[in-house]
Amino acid sequence: MIEQEKEKKMINDSRRGFLKSAAIGSALVVGAEMSPIAAAFADEIPKVTYTGGYKAGTAVQELELLDLVEIEQRAAKVIPKGGFGYIAGGAGDEWTLRENRAAFERKQITPRVLTGKGAVDLRAEILGISIASPIIVCPMGGQGLAHVTAEAGMAMGAAAGNTIMALSTVSTLSMEQVAAAAGGPKWFQLYLQTDDGVNRDLLRRAKAAGYKAIVLTVDSTATGNREADARNNFTFPLPFGNLVGKGSGGNIHALNASFAQKIDAKAIEFVLTESGLPVIVKGISSPDDALLAIRAGASAIQISNHGGRQLDGSPATFTVLPAVAKAVDRKVPIILDSGIRRGQDVFKALASGADIVGLGRPAYYGLALGGWKGVHSVLKFLNRELSMVMQLAGAQTVEDIKRTNLA
Ligand code: GLV
Repeated sequence: MIEQEKEKKMINDSRRGFLKSAAIGSALVVGAEMSPIAAAFADEIPKVTYTGGYKAGTAVQELELLDLVEIEQRAAKVIPKGGFGYIAGGAGDEWTLRENRAAFERKQITPRVLTGKGAVDLRAEILGISIASPIIVCPMGGQGLAHVTAEAGMAMGAAAGNTIMALSTVSTLSMEQVAAAAGGPKWFQLYLQTDDGVNRDLLRRAKAAGYKAIVLTVDSTATGNREADARNNFTFPLPFGNLVGKGSGGNIHALNASFAQKIDAKAIEFVLTESGLPVIVKGISSPDDALLAIRAGASAIQISNHGGRQLDGSPATFTVLPAVAKAVDRKVPIILDSGIRRGQDVFKALASGADIVGLGRPAYYGLALGGWKGVHSVLKFLNRELSMVMQLAGAQTVEDIKRTNLA
């Protein structure tokens, strides 16, 4: 009880701090720390119960950050080895994992310094949802591996940062628990299951719980060769909240067999009809797939190679972005994930045809190190870095970035 009281006080204190920083920040940057309306939190944050000796982060604290690269090593000290390997690892030789970063380094931003443009406005919008900046939180499985508040902490951090959080099918907490924990805008990510009854049930629950769109992941008809997991002999220490009592029973061993092994345009139509929600098709790298998805009714395309965790040897998302953007021709918005670590990366992605970027592992590490406050710190940090980049490059708004040519 005393612990709960302390936590409530912390949340209220942080809300006040948040209001204060929004007021101070607004003189310089519009958008990054907008109104805290989205940050209505539950009185009690759900917590994961671990069995078998697994111990994840418990701290709820703001983080001092220098960049979103070194945070990985800090998080490795808090997340047990097996869990860290699962989160940080890629598939095979991890070539795609590295290439996701390297591709950004091959393009440059030529600064425009005499535009006379001043204060930067980061605000963005996607599928009718206004957000603080063009950065959202990607779906990531099993967040209880990182922190005792799991996806509830991630949702609260995203809500505090006034952005969207996408919740994975294979989340530790159930979609209802996460929806009850934080009031910010949320999307539900679907891994199609072989049993359509389970798919229908997941979609019905997501809609009933207030998720605003379905992110249909289409790059996972098999799981990539995650060698770190094999080396660490890693098995998931936690059940999957959305699937308990369903096809796989929430059990990791039965899970792979329950994933659909073939996905086509019909699957997109199925999700659209069954959910009645906008569908974002995630895991696209080829212009042809983007066009197939749009013809099947996709409301947005998410260019993603799953953070280098699926097909090793596939190109960086930033490499395929211009061709996909050309094919999409602004018919629907484009979200890009995999490899975003710096404000420069966000800028380069938007200048090359993306509308929004998805942040993955750095948000997971923020959660491990500081719970919802850690996630919020990571988002604030990246927003600040993006606003600095925009100011130095001579772009005042997200639309200005999109008009910028890279060298
Ligand atoms: C789940 O989405 C994973 O990449 O492991």
